[in-house]
Amino acid sequence: MSTPIIAPSILASDFAKLGEECRAIEAAGADWVHIDVMDGHFVPNITIGPDVVKALRPHVKIPFDVHLMIAPVDPYLEAFISAGADIVTIHPEAGPHLHRSLKRIRELGAKAGVVFNPSAPVEYVEWILEDVDQLLVMTVNPGFGGQSFISSQLRKIERLRKMIDAAGLDIQLEVDGGVTPVTAPQCVAAGATALVAGSAVFKGGPEAYAANIRALKGG
Ligand code: DX5
Ligand code: ZN
Repeated sequence: MSTPIIAPSILASDFAKLGEECRAIEAAGADWVHIDVMDGHFVPNITIGPDVVKALRPHVKIPFDVHLMIAPVDPYLEAFISAGADIVTIHPEAGPHLHRSLKRIRELGAKAGVVFNPSAPVEYVEWILEDVDQLLVMTVNPGFGGQSFISSQLRKIERLRKMIDAAGLDIQLEVDGGVTPVTAPQCVAAGATALVAGSAVFKGGPEAYAANIRALKGG
């Protein structure tokens, strides 16, 4: 099995020290920074806007994996991409024309991702797979860190793995929510190539980040 990309979610970091926290995870071996954007409307929590993404961008070189949990999403794509988002992942329920939004993300120069809530069907992307760079399977309901992994979603990861392989496309398959050293190998075995982890990376403070990331990569 190949080593997964690890994308720590800064939602679980110290918000008073966001720049420092991004530098600490980069130094500890993180591959991407996962930034959870919430609007208190699409999900019941409010977090980070484009100005914070812009302020963080000079702190690290690794890609910014921006998970937009906002509706409507289209009016904000440009702001997040010009602020420094490298990958922009959107929920199909957050706009009327998923295909148009994905094309727009690519036109603006970022990689385009689609995220599946636990109840969302894999068919959302069946006819638009060529227009996607990343698929993100939520293994919790979006809105908060620290929730438990919903195991039924492993079957969705397997289904999407088959869909990607059958199409012969180069698409990252990412998992988000409740990822720990116990659930990470289950996700990778099901076909995931990238893992988001908040609590499992940031627990124990900066001295623990490198070991926490290593544990998620399989030790
Ligand atoms: C939930 C977010 C996740 C969350 C993961 O809406 O999308 O990225 O921060 O946190 P943990 O790893 O603690 O479940
Ligand atoms: Zn996320």
